[in-house]
Amino acid sequence: MVLSGRTPLERGALESRIRNALSTAGFNPSSENFSVFLSRLEYIQADYADDAFYSRLTALLAKQDSRFGVKRKHLFYLATPPSAFESIALNLKAFGLLFDPCETGCWSRIIIEKPYGSSLESAAALEAALKQAASESQVYRIDHFTGKETVQNVMALRSANAVFDGTWNNRFMDHVQITVFEELGLEGRASFFEKMGLARDMMSHILQLAAITAMDLPATFRDTDFKAEKKLFFGSIRPLEREEVPTRSVRGQYAGYRDEQGVAQDSLAETFLAFKFQIDNARWRGVPFYVRAGKKTGAKSTRIDLVYNKPARGIFKTINIGHPNTFSFNIQPEEKITFSLVSKHPGPKLCFAPKTIELDYRAEGQDAAGYPTDYERLLIEAMSGDQTLFLSSFEMRFMWEFLSPLLAAWQEDPGANPLHAYAAGTSGPAAAEKLIKKDGMSWV
Ligand code: BG6
Repeated sequence: MVLSGRTPLERGALESRIRNALSTAGFNPSSENFSVFLSRLEYIQADYADDAFYSRLTALLAKQDSRFGVKRKHLFYLATPPSAFESIALNLKAFGLLFDPCETGCWSRIIIEKPYGSSLESAAALEAALKQAASESQVYRIDHFTGKETVQNVMALRSANAVFDGTWNNRFMDHVQITVFEELGLEGRASFFEKMGLARDMMSHILQLAAITAMDLPATFRDTDFKAEKKLFFGSIRPLEREEVPTRSVRGQYAGYRDEQGVAQDSLAETFLAFKFQIDNARWRGVPFYVRAGKKTGAKSTRIDLVYNKPARGIFKTINIGHPNTFSFNIQPEEKITFSLVSKHPGPKLCFAPKTIELDYRAEGQDAAGYPTDYERLLIEAMSGDQTLFLSSFEMRFMWEFLSPLLAAWQEDPGANPLHAYAAGTSGPAAAEKLIKKDGMSWV
């Protein structure tokens, strides 16, 4: 393995960084395993625009290939500043490091981290560069949410249990909510966040959660079937029109954001986003989807809630039991599936009481205590050449088509789209409450 970054790092500093990172992530390998791991690692300082860097990288990879019998199987993982993606990909190609697979089994692939551009235009330019550098089968656009164990379980549960998926449509469902709340704020990423804001940072994750919940089930979970079905799903989402943005979206910034190190005093970067969107297909037409995502919005909570219609008939007409049924996927940090319902409270009278059925995924998965984390899973998939969980170029384009009217309206008409302040630790600005309340619903 070759690690590379712009920082010059002596061997000792490199090793202690790795040791600290492992321990922060809760891994404490034996000293024997750790030394084997280190003995396979090399680090080179990178200047991404300099040919000399690619020559050194080529030589180092050749050395590792022969030392470990790798036979030119190369996976390049680009978690660099996004502005460097294009030139790195083109240089890897120019230096023969991105090549077509060969008969002896050699291959080369490239993983692109987000952010995938910062606008529709820059994403298209990146896409064009990647097309020049590699074929689609070599490009792995990563969104780590697709690799989460509990996200995978949404699909598993839908496909194995007709009782649920069969009711996930506009006959039974009132609305759907997606929440991506984080306790954390900037964590030293001010310069990134000031440029990107929350909408650009999180939209890919939000759309992937929506897809996994609401797309039709593919015929198989093989890459092409899966992507084809996802494409149909994204094709049926109706992006907001510019004039709808003020009534269907809310942006916010937590109080104190402008005092963070590296943040401008007049920063307009949003740290909170809520919006409503519709899916124009036979399954979901008429069922609104509501999304909330934010930094410093209380405890971390990523969840998907499918809220069923109220009962329409019989005694329930006269008793207000709200929306008794909600199917919830708690993606993280709790890993739970819950289904709420109402049943008779034991006793002589006909009284109703809300109940919750719960499946604790973590407890169920004791035997899988060592299951891979999101990134581990995705890196393993990329090594094995499976692109199913990676994003297609269509998805990337769609994300920007969806985001563009939102960003443009915010920028060009701040009067109609104010940046609402909210207190850290709360679930966002009051305007986000209004967004859903005016439709007669409330956040879960
Ligand atoms: C990243 C975003 O993609 O996802 C971060 O850049 C965010 O801003 C993170 O904090 C959330 O990921 P997770 O897996 O911690 O929920």
